Amino acid sequence: MYRLPLVSATPALALQPAAGEVQPERETEALGRFRKRDYVRYGAKLAQGMISSRVFGQHRPLMVNIEPTHRCNLDCVYCDKVDPRSPQMETEAALRMIDELAELGTLSVCFDGGEPLVHPGILRFVRRAKRHGMRVSMSTNGHLLKRKAEVLKYVDKIKISIDGPRHVHDAGRGAGALEQALQGARLALDSGAGVAIRMTLARHNLEHYREVLEFAKEMGVVALFQPAVGNIMNGADAPAEHSADADAYRRVIDDLKRLKACGEPVANEMLCLDHLRNWPEPKPVPFCSGGRVEVAIGPDGGMFPCGRTGRNLAAPNVFEVGVAAAFEKVLRPTDCANCWCTLTVAACYLYRGDIRLLTKAARGPGRSR
Ligand SMILES: C[S@@+](CC[C@H](N)C(=O)[O-])C[C@H]1O[C@@H](n2cnc3c(N)ncnc32)[C@H](O)[C@@H]1O
Ligand code: SF4
Ligand code: SF4
Repeated sequence: MYRLPLVSATPALALQPAAGEVQPERETEALGRFRKRDYVRYGAKLAQGMISSRVFGQHRPLMVNIEPTHRCNLDCVYCDKVDPRSPQMETEAALRMIDELAELGTLSVCFDGGEPLVHPGILRFVRRAKRHGMRVSMSTNGHLLKRKAEVLKYVDKIKISIDGPRHVHDAGRGAGALEQALQGARLALDSGAGVAIRMTLARHNLEHYREVLEFAKEMGVVALFQPAVGNIMNGADAPAEHSADADAYRRVIDDLKRLKACGEPVANEMLCLDHLRNWPEPKPVPFCSGGRVEVAIGPDGGMFPCGRTGRNLAAPNVFEVGVAAAFEKVLRPTDCANCWCTLTVAACYLYRGDIRLLTKAARGPGRSR
């Protein structure tokens, strides 16, 4: 069995204090956000880790999606990933989990949800991840960024959901939601974090993608697109009532490809748009990164191959057996018929060895396209 190296040999910890020299969390400010050279180093380590995984079967959780909670301050029309009564990660246990991830060589974490900012421990989580020298990102609706602005100091990239102009975004996400999201995006930009808009293409907002691109241009950021699938929690990718009509959706993806070719700030790579264009027809990715270099950890500690895996499947639990043992047992799918989340699709094509995606990872988010 492949043994993971110790902390001293773990690339993500190259900048860390020696073992035993525990620093208070506050001191992480000295470590700060990734700069150019950190991204270059990150890209190199990612490439190295992916080659080890693909060629030698030495898998490691290099990129981890952490869902501290499935609670949320919104109730969006197409989202089933929210449960107001669901358990949240216990803060101290989650901090230990982040330490264990660092031990295993995790290079980047993305805080997701639910809405990650509703978790009371979120500031401590991002700070702890930064302390380990990880690249830290967050998927958010943006509403709580004003109240929890300190979080931004430790986040390299914010992915903020915007689904259309005011009347459309608010129809799907609640009155006043667009204003809050834009305010959050501006705060993130002013703090120096990288920002990307993420638009989920559903029935109610499909025709408004150009307006979302306009927001992106005005802010000098990029926009990612993905289809609204049926049910994330059950892993059901078939369209539901809220989903867009498949033919109309494909026309939008084709137009996004044209716009990207003309220099518009569409962040999905062309090959990812080509992949996403197939929705809802089954379309496996060439190589699945899930459980190999990427994993997701849910609020109760269940470890899944990726954020899109149905939560109805049995999963090893990091709070019961520890992160390393959970990673040894995690599912490594070989038969996933669909992969429609913009982020998991990009991770899978990166895992295949796409050089443009790797260059992008090594360049960092920045403000611009
Ligand atoms: C589950 S949310 C969690 C982060 C945060 N609360 C937010 O809204 O960005 C992450 C992304 O999933 C998207 N999403 C929610 N339901 C979806 C569905 N049924 N199909 C595809 N994407 C969905 C959201 O639009 C959002 O961009
Ligand atoms: S999409 Fe995000 S903001 Fe909307 S309900 Fe789901 S988790 Fe909450
Ligand atoms: S959804 Fe994509 S990344 Fe996730 S397990 Fe399936 S193929 Fe892999």
